[in-house]
Amino acid sequence: MTILSFILLLYPLVANSYIPDYNLAINCGSSNDTTTLDSRTWVGDNSNLFTFTEPKITKPSLKLPPNSLSNAQTPYTTARISLSNFTYYFPIITNYTVFLRLHFYPTSYQNFDRSNSLFSVEVNNNLTLLKDFNPLLWLDHVDDVTPIIKEYCIQIKPNEKLNITFIPNNINQSHPSYAFINGIEVVSMPSFLYYTNLTDTNYHIKSVEFDSNQYQYQYQVLNDKALEMVYRVNVGDNQVPPSKDTGMFRNWDNDFPLYLEKQYPQSVSADYGGHLNYLHNSIPNYTAPEVVYLTARSYGMNVTEDYNVTWNFEVDSTFTYIVRLHFCEFDWHIKKENDRIFQIFIDNKLAEPVADVISWTGIRMVPVHKDYVVTMYSPDRNRSSQRVKLSIKLQRAAKTIPMKYHDVTLNGIEIFKIREEDMNLSLKWKKVHGRHRKKVRQVYHPICAAILQ
Ligand SMILES: *[C@@H]1O[C@H](CO)[C@@H](O)[C@H](O)[C@H]1NC(C)=O
Ligand SMILES: *[C@@H]1O[C@H](CO)[C@@H](O)[C@H](O)[C@H]1NC(C)=O
Ligand SMILES: *[C@@H]1O[C@H](CO)[C@@H](O)[C@H](O)[C@H]1NC(C)=O
Ligand SMILES: *[C@@H]1O[C@H](CO)[C@@H](O)[C@H](O)[C@H]1NC(C)=O
Ligand SMILES: *[C@@H]1O[C@H](CO)[C@@H](O)[C@H](O)[C@H]1NC(C)=O
Ligand SMILES: *[C@@H]1O[C@H](CO)[C@@H](O)[C@H](O)[C@H]1NC(C)=O
Ligand SMILES: *[C@@H]1O[C@H](CO)[C@@H](O)[C@H](O)[C@H]1NC(C)=O
Ligand SMILES: *[C@@H]1O[C@H](CO)[C@@H](O)[C@H](O)[C@H]1NC(C)=O
Ligand SMILES: *[C@@H]1O[C@H](CO)[C@@H](O)[C@H](O)[C@H]1NC(C)=O
Ligand SMILES: *[C@@H]1O[C@H](CO)[C@@H](O)[C@H](O)[C@H]1NC(C)=O
Ligand SMILES: *[C@@H]1O[C@H](CO)[C@@H](O)[C@H](O)[C@H]1NC(C)=O
Ligand SMILES: *[C@@H]1O[C@H](CO)[C@@H](O)[C@H](O)[C@H]1NC(C)=O
Repeated sequence: MTILSFILLLYPLVANSYIPDYNLAINCGSSNDTTTLDSRTWVGDNSNLFTFTEPKITKPSLKLPPNSLSNAQTPYTTARISLSNFTYYFPIITNYTVFLRLHFYPTSYQNFDRSNSLFSVEVNNNLTLLKDFNPLLWLDHVDDVTPIIKEYCIQIKPNEKLNITFIPNNINQSHPSYAFINGIEVVSMPSFLYYTNLTDTNYHIKSVEFDSNQYQYQYQVLNDKALEMVYRVNVGDNQVPPSKDTGMFRNWDNDFPLYLEKQYPQSVSADYGGHLNYLHNSIPNYTAPEVVYLTARSYGMNVTEDYNVTWNFEVDSTFTYIVRLHFCEFDWHIKKENDRIFQIFIDNKLAEPVADVISWTGIRMVPVHKDYVVTMYSPDRNRSSQRVKLSIKLQRAAKTIPMKYHDVTLNGIEIFKIREEDMNLSLKWKKVHGRHRKKVRQVYHPICAAILQ
């Protein structure tokens, strides 16, 4: 045995802090199981771990490779394609919160022209994840085919199984559309990673809206709601690929150049190394990879000019979003409360007037996240959904507040779209301040669609 392999035995390369009970990745359209680089097996499309059904067998589905492979990797080297409905049924998993990831490679497959794909995706004949969807339209550049990945969080009820149905849009009889899918992942997750643990009274999701008396509302993500992950970003440094996540195969994008408005002259990205401290009354260690907490952007402590450090994310208006901001104070300059205080604006509303990471964690190297809810309106406040900009801005606190460094910091961002049950969305809001005033209020929001997009 070489010294190297001995070291590898002592220190396994991947020390995942979460091991999913259920973890299935399907390479749709492929006959064989495939093992990819991140030592994950994508099972073939005839595995007995799930059931494939199609009710209408006059036009059975096909398993096809893309016409142009270029540099496609698993699961994008094959697709399941059909002009009729088809369903993947998962009979084993029940009573779990899961990630559901759908992988699409929007190119042409044999005589299936990519412009003719138009379909919906439903879960358990009840929840519409995608409506009249053509993945081609999601490409940044039509000639540069890249995978489109959609990630959802859903709760499978104790008396339910999971089935996922693909439904081609056949409104135009003379010009039938087809549905296709390259890869499906179903991965279980901790129940309260994103959903609210109602017995945990210390946890709050704050609204960015204040009422006329300056009370900030509180929100709960109940597990009858489906969430669509729209952005997940490691602020300040590189992408963290699914294989380097904490065990749930989440992807963390880099923040620059896509989201950070510009690299401000003094905005710094720092990686101090070291290890996080999870013992200090903090969040579970699977919340985000260590590297997310050990890299950040800040203002630059000695900067004198004033600007907002800004990230912009394009989202659909008329929907409500959860914004999770990850923080970890690793800078050795910062030792105690009031050393670094800043303000957080979400959608140009003051979400956090006094952000002081050390006051939330007590000491350095302790990771923490703060969650906010924001409803995005159309510019003219009418009911039609449009693409709008959700901004996150960090600004130094007013100079009148006594503090050591006029600086800001942020380590990671996650944004989820909330899927509401009804056309007419009624949210349950609670007041954060004044515990004696925990009145539940119904607020009507002009949300026009019962679907996610
Ligand atoms: C994560 O935390 C759990 C429970 O506190 C612990 O058992 C586990 O060893 C930790 N995992 C890692 C990789 O630190
Ligand atoms: C599947 O594996 C078999 C045996 O290894 C091989 O002959 C066949 O070509 C493979 N099929 C595909 C589609 O890769
Ligand atoms: C396909 O699914 C949709 C939605 O569930 C349904 O309305 C339609 O009847 C199905 N078509 C066939 C041929 O089963
Ligand atoms: C999918 O699941 C729902 C709810 O369990 C069930 O009603 C429906 O028949 C299933 N559809 C298929 C095609 O298996
Ligand atoms: C669909 O889901 C909603 C919310 O969970 C539930 O109230 C309703 O009964 C479900 N409908 C069907 C047909 O399963
Ligand atoms: C569902 O899971 C929860 C949490 O693991 C457990 O408390 C509950 O008993 C389960 N329900 C059923 C019907 O299995
Ligand atoms: C149906 O598709 C054909 C072929 O693309 C097109 O000419 C026609 O306008 C479409 N009809 C409708 C109602 O969209
Ligand atoms: C929910 O919160 C309560 C109170 O903080 C805690 O005791 C419990 O362990 C939490 N449940 C889970 C599954 O994390
Ligand atoms: C800020 O300026 C002080 C005094 O000029 C200097 O000692 C310190 O290292 C600077 N801090 C940073 C982070 O550049
Ligand atoms: C920072 O953004 C907030 C919210 O849009 C705005 O009120 C403030 O004027 C901005 N500050 C600077 C210096 O641009
Ligand atoms: C809503 O606004 C958009 C963009 O201004 C416009 O195209 C659309 O017609 C409006 N819809 C209604 C119902 O007023
Ligand atoms: C939405 O629900 C509220 C309360 O139930 C009701 O007053 C209102 O008329 C409804 N609005 C629409 C557009 O259905």
